[in-house]
Amino acid sequence: MAARTLHLFCFLVCSLAIIKSECAKDLGSYNVTKTILKNAVSKGAVCLDGSPPAYHFEPGFGKGVGNWIVQLSGGAWCTNVTECQDRILDKNVGSTNFTDSWTFQGIYSENPTANPDFYNWNKVFVRYCDGGAFTGDVEYVDHVTNLHFRGARIFEAVMEDLLAKGLKNAKNAILAGSSAGGYPTMLYCDHFRSLLPNTPRVKCLVDSGYFIHVKNPMQASGFEKIYNSLLTLHGSTKALPKSCTSKMNPPLCFFPENMQQHIKTPLFIAMSAFDYYQIKTTIDPNADRCVENRTCTECQNKAFREFRSEFLSALPISNNPKLRGVFIDSVIHHSALSYRWTPENAILINNLSAPKAFADWYFDRKYWYVIDKHDLPIPTTKDRRT
Ligand SMILES: *[C@@H]1O[C@H](CO)[C@@H](O)[C@H](O)[C@H]1NC(C)=O
Ligand SMILES: *[C@@H]1O[C@H](CO)[C@@H](O)[C@H](O)[C@H]1NC(C)=O
Ligand SMILES: *[C@@H]1O[C@H](CO)[C@@H](O)[C@H](O)[C@H]1NC(C)=O
Ligand SMILES: *[C@@H]1O[C@H](CO)[C@@H](O)[C@H](O)[C@H]1NC(C)=O
Ligand SMILES: *[C@@H]1O[C@H](CO)[C@@H](O)[C@H](O)[C@H]1NC(C)=O
Repeated sequence: MAARTLHLFCFLVCSLAIIKSECAKDLGSYNVTKTILKNAVSKGAVCLDGSPPAYHFEPGFGKGVGNWIVQLSGGAWCTNVTECQDRILDKNVGSTNFTDSWTFQGIYSENPTANPDFYNWNKVFVRYCDGGAFTGDVEYVDHVTNLHFRGARIFEAVMEDLLAKGLKNAKNAILAGSSAGGYPTMLYCDHFRSLLPNTPRVKCLVDSGYFIHVKNPMQASGFEKIYNSLLTLHGSTKALPKSCTSKMNPPLCFFPENMQQHIKTPLFIAMSAFDYYQIKTTIDPNADRCVENRTCTECQNKAFREFRSEFLSALPISNNPKLRGVFIDSVIHHSALSYRWTPENAILINNLSAPKAFADWYFDRKYWYVIDKHDLPIPTTKDRRT
């Protein structure tokens, strides 16, 4: 009897395991262990707590062996000592000591149906552990807090390591980033290009990280405060583009509209005109609520329309979509490279999805510059923002 129960139990568990692994295979998602860059420590390229930087790497296969996508992960910023210490306690964003594996999906899916253009590429997901969007470079370390502000050095150390691992021989390459990873993607886009002189095709992809500087001073203060503190705390000024800092106050050079025009490498921007993070920071912390509840007043709608109009004006102009492609939807969401980068979950504009638009643009099939005509936010249908 006991043996039979055990058999039955085994049968159930094994069936579940098979179903589970098949489901996982269908979605093309899988967990990738971390690679720790121990030798970066001697260059002072370390996370907030002094631990070495880390990334997750899955080698390419088949026809993708010569192609590389490197993604800088996001996750807001820390703008004062307390916030940075809190990031160390939340061990995944300020330290790599406890970092586990990372689930690759979406643009990192290995399923050719779900991810036809990139499934077999070399894929790198760089952990964000510096709190300053990969821009910090402060030599001094306070012995009481033991906080390190070295994000810019982390970027350099990771690149050096990846070049040696085969990135330097890439045929196609992409530097990508979502949210707080979007700014460093723009900032380092030309630098990334210059590290790959023999790579025929190098382009950059910013997802949900084009946070604009609005005219209304009250509304603008949210991002202004963040960027002012980044400069003070992380010593980011050196990392910012000289083409911008020579013309205006350094904090303003964190706003993409003030620096994107100087980027020579092709750049694609995929984002909502009503990005969840931006509207909450800029318009109102509860701005999304009336949209989901369909109770927005005329006044709220006016604020949304005004914001969208400023956002569209801040985008790269549309006269050279080969250099600047865009896919701007109107659905309230934030970040699209993982969950939403699949045929089932992707946001559509006139039946065109962001993954398709980006792949067409990347492979020079069609240079999309598409903007959803809806001038008010569309609620999320799948009850999730990322
Ligand atoms: C990946 O890891 C997560 C937790 O970190 C776990 O829930 C999930 O089952 C794992 N997926 C696979 C395919 O192993
Ligand atoms: C991570 O490890 C380093 C070196 O062992 C140590 O200095 C640091 O305090 C650790 N961080 C945490 C959060 O435990
Ligand atoms: C740190 O910044 C956060 C967010 O702006 C703020 O709430 C907090 O009071 C600040 N802490 C200190 C010690 O300045
Ligand atoms: C609107 O939706 C939020 C959830 O997003 C809910 O907490 C709130 O009670 C709703 N408010 C109204 C006025 O329906
Ligand atoms: C929408 O796009 C899909 C995939 O590109 C295509 O298969 C389908 O025919 C299109 N549908 C319409 C109504 O255009």
